[in-house]
This record gives sequence, C-alpha cells and structure tokens, in this order.
Amino acid sequence: MKLYTHIDRIKAELISRNMTPPIDPIALSEIDSMHYLGNDAVQAAVDVMKFDPSCHVLDVGSGFGGPARILATLSKCHVTALELQQDIHELGEDLTKRCNLDDLVQHVNGDILDNDTVERLGYGFDGIVSFLVFLHIPSKKPLLDVCAKVLKPNGSVFIEDFYCIAPFTELETKSLSRDVFCSDLPSKQEYIQQLELSGFCNINFVELTTEWTQYVTNRLEQFIENKERYTAVHGENAYSGLLEFYTVVATLFNGGNLGGVRIIAQTK
Ligand SMILES: C[S@@+](CC[C@H](N)C(=O)[O-])C[C@H]1O[C@@H](n2cnc3c(N)ncnc32)[C@H](O)[C@@H]1O
Repeated sequence: MKLYTHIDRIKAELISRNMTPPIDPIALSEIDSMHYLGNDAVQAAVDVMKFDPSCHVLDVGSGFGGPARILATLSKCHVTALELQQDIHELGEDLTKRCNLDDLVQHVNGDILDNDTVERLGYGFDGIVSFLVFLHIPSKKPLLDVCAKVLKPNGSVFIEDFYCIAPFTELETKSLSRDVFCSDLPSKQEYIQQLELSGFCNINFVELTTEWTQYVTNRLEQFIENKERYTAVHGENAYSGLLEFYTVVATLFNGGNLGGVRIIAQTK
C-alpha cells in the first residue's frame, strides 16, 4: 500500500507557481517538504551536526527530496536521499535536476530495512538525518541497527519522530494506524533504550511536542483560510482529503498523548 499519494499535487503547484528550471530549492521547499517547521528543522540539523562540504549524509525517507536539497544548499554537503516509494523517488530525482543540485544530491529508491538497499547505499556516512519517517516503521530495533551499521564511528543521527507520551485511547490508536500509518510508537524511555541497544551514545532527546502541537494547529487553520486557492489548483476532493488528514493530526497532538521529538545521538 502506498503511504503517500499526492504526487500530482506537487506537479500542479509547480505549474500554478510557474516554477521552471533552474528552480530555487528554498522556494521549492514551500511545496515539497512533508515535515514540520520547514527549513528551520533542516537548519537545526546543519548546525547541530556541523555538516560541511566534506560530509556525506544519508537522508532516510527523503520524500520528494526537499530536506536533502536544503541540506546540500545550506552546507554544501553530499546527500544520499533514500526513498521507499518509486513514484516519489522519481519525482524527487527530477526536482533535484531541475534545481541543478544533482552533483550534491544522489537519489536511491529502496527500503532502509532491505539488505540489498543497504548494500547499494554503502557505509561510512558521517551523519544520518530523517524527518517524520521512523514513525511509519513499527520496529525500531532493526531500523536503528541499520543506522548504526551504515554510519562511521563517531557518526551522528538527527531524527525527528513521533513518540508516545501516555497510553493512547482506542480511538487514537485506530486513528494513528488508519490515517497516519503509524503503530507501536515507543515511549521516551523505550526509545532511549532501543538507541542504546543499537550502540548509540550521547543521546539527546529534544522535546518538540509544544512546538509541533502549535505548528499542526496553525497549519489546519491556515489550510481552511486558504480553501479557495487550494481548491482552484487541486480540486475539492484533494482539499477534503487533506483537510481530514490535517484535522486528525491536530486532534492527536492536542490530545496530549502523542509527542514529537528530535533525537540526536552518536555511534561509538
Ligand atoms: C512524512 S514523509 C517525510 C518525507 C521527508 N522526510 C520530508 O520531510 O519531506 C515519510 C516518507 O518516508 C518514506 N518511507 C517510509 N518508510 C520507509 C522505509 N522503510 N525506507 C525508506 N523510506 C521510507 C515514505 O515513503 C515517505 O516518503
């Protein structure tokens, strides 16, 4: 099953905004990034991880490649952008070419949990970033093991993810699974324990729940305010589908049991 189905919306936005090559990746990031707090989150990764032109970074679950292109633009580092869905991967690769960033950003299609994919990625990355992807992968242990394996010693991860603050209600569990493709979220303690078991140290669990709750609440309000423009570009069905998704996510965060976190940790 495909998690994400809005490929056509990116193409429609490119046409509507008259974006032709060479495209500015910062302007493009307004439509191609799926994580929270936009480029500030990517800037935080560059600052915390001290990425520079000598670094090779793996972006796990790169989506349309937005964060990977911003990373490369801000720090001139080399990025391998790994994406599971072939159609999203192909559009991401095309957008990178349209931004003239294909010398810095290389796209790979595959599953981070698949051994052949990992062989194709190679080893010895300086850092791994991942924005709102791990929440789709229920079993964190094999995922964190792979991350540790492909990093060089003293390599770092910068992961933005969901976690469980307190037990979810039955309705929340159903909504997370059905609408967000998310199940078995770990608690803070469980997450840290898994990181340690996979060999990570210097673990920094940065609480983002308040900021993200505000962000998803504002996102919903602004989306409703901009209904006319969105419907004109994408149609009524796309509007009502996204309205439902944004409402579900805002309700979950405002419920107080869903948390947002940035995890920074190092291999030994
Ligand atoms: C919420 S989107 C975030 C995309 C991107 N990180 C961003 O912030 O724009 C999650 C992405 O992770 C990808 N993904 C999910 N599971 C994956 C896996 N096992 N391996 C690689 N990518 C995966 C999905 O296909 C989707 O494009």
